[in-house]
Amino acid sequence: MKPIQVGLLGMGVVGSGTFNVLLRNQKEIKRRAGRGIEITMVADLDLARVQSLVAEGVQVVNDARTVIANPDIDIIIELIGGCGIAKTLVLETIAAGKHVVTANKALLAVHGTEIFAAASSKGVMVAFEAAVAGGIPIIKALREGLTANSIQWIAGIINGTTNFILSEMRDKGLDFTVVLKEAQRLGYAEADPTFDIEGVDAAHKATIMSAIAFGIPVQFDKAYVEGIAKLSAVDIKYAEQLGYRIKLLGITKRTDKGIELRVHPSLVPTKRLIANVEGAMNAVMVQGDAVGTTLYYGKGAGSEPTASAVIADLVDITRLHTADPLNRVPHLAFQPDAMSDLHVLPMSAVVTSYYLRLRVADEAGVLARVTGILASLDISIDALLQREADEVEGETRAAGGPQVAQTDLIILTHDCVEAKMNAAMGQIQALPTVLAPITRIRKEELA
Ligand code: HSE
Repeated sequence: MKPIQVGLLGMGVVGSGTFNVLLRNQKEIKRRAGRGIEITMVADLDLARVQSLVAEGVQVVNDARTVIANPDIDIIIELIGGCGIAKTLVLETIAAGKHVVTANKALLAVHGTEIFAAASSKGVMVAFEAAVAGGIPIIKALREGLTANSIQWIAGIINGTTNFILSEMRDKGLDFTVVLKEAQRLGYAEADPTFDIEGVDAAHKATIMSAIAFGIPVQFDKAYVEGIAKLSAVDIKYAEQLGYRIKLLGITKRTDKGIELRVHPSLVPTKRLIANVEGAMNAVMVQGDAVGTTLYYGKGAGSEPTASAVIADLVDITRLHTADPLNRVPHLAFQPDAMSDLHVLPMSAVVTSYYLRLRVADEAGVLARVTGILASLDISIDALLQREADEVEGETRAAGGPQVAQTDLIILTHDCVEAKMNAAMGQIQALPTVLAPITRIRKEELA
């Protein structure tokens, strides 16, 4: 049978990886797919650069629509990224009755409902393994491997840039801004790292996993998103002393009241495997009622790891494109007419435990007042640490404020609803003996 023909839009790092792996493993891929898979046309604005990267015979153009319009091409790989022209081209591909493979997490997290509906009505597939955790086949695992389960929660390190930064901060005791600069110099962080460090990239991925896990629509606008820019080396050190590592987690959880969907730095017990995922690596924990806890680990970005996911989707489509669309695996794991109306909870309704660091005046009664406020709101303390601040000459003295001895109070709480914690923090912050803004980091036991 003649090879299935593929058009590629946007020839960057992942595009070249896809070319290389398809070529290197073409015999095995053909044996798996049942026929060859060939990229025959590429659209990119930098024609000269792309010509030098592709094999002879591959047509390179600067107009993506020429590729989509080519009647010989059955599958379009979209590697442009973002929600601008990429969205238009994906919808045009679907309208042309062609299948889409994309690594575009932002597009699916924000516009997935529209895109999947368009694809269903045209009977085409939109495959997106590469959109979440790069080379880790987490979409396949959630959608197919764990299909027997009622999934209870997912917690993942799904952004390599931030995990690299946090690992370096811990290893070297450096502050965020220093490590970020170094990460940029080494090419681990983008020149504009905003999406990564503010947690947006992780929230896109968590949103997609949440939809597949619980059969709800993609709802990025409901996700709570907090990044790592405000973390300081001292919190990483105190967490370590208490038996925890700080990780940026993407979390989605089924509760009696609704679905939690959140990205924020979290203390994770050091004894958990996921706490030991270091550098730019990714890992995703999934808790299912039948299987228990499972853990998926690997490279979440990079040329060939991401190409591995792109090609897995190409093989799936090659195997399935002649099948009745009703017999294919649904885009979001659940049949489109069987989606759940479970709503995504606001952050104030999330129940979790907390790490609080308070810079306080080191004098009688301070601790009692703080614990009194927590007790009055029924917030139970799990552990408490008092440490001489590394720099006791803290902000108040430097600013010419009162000459008081200062200390850091670190409190770990048991679970409580976030609204109560917000109320407690408001009252504690108002105490005159609390000398600096309170640091609050959420804590996940992942048991
Ligand atoms: N920028 C992402 C990361 C990879 O650092 O993990 C692509 O989502």
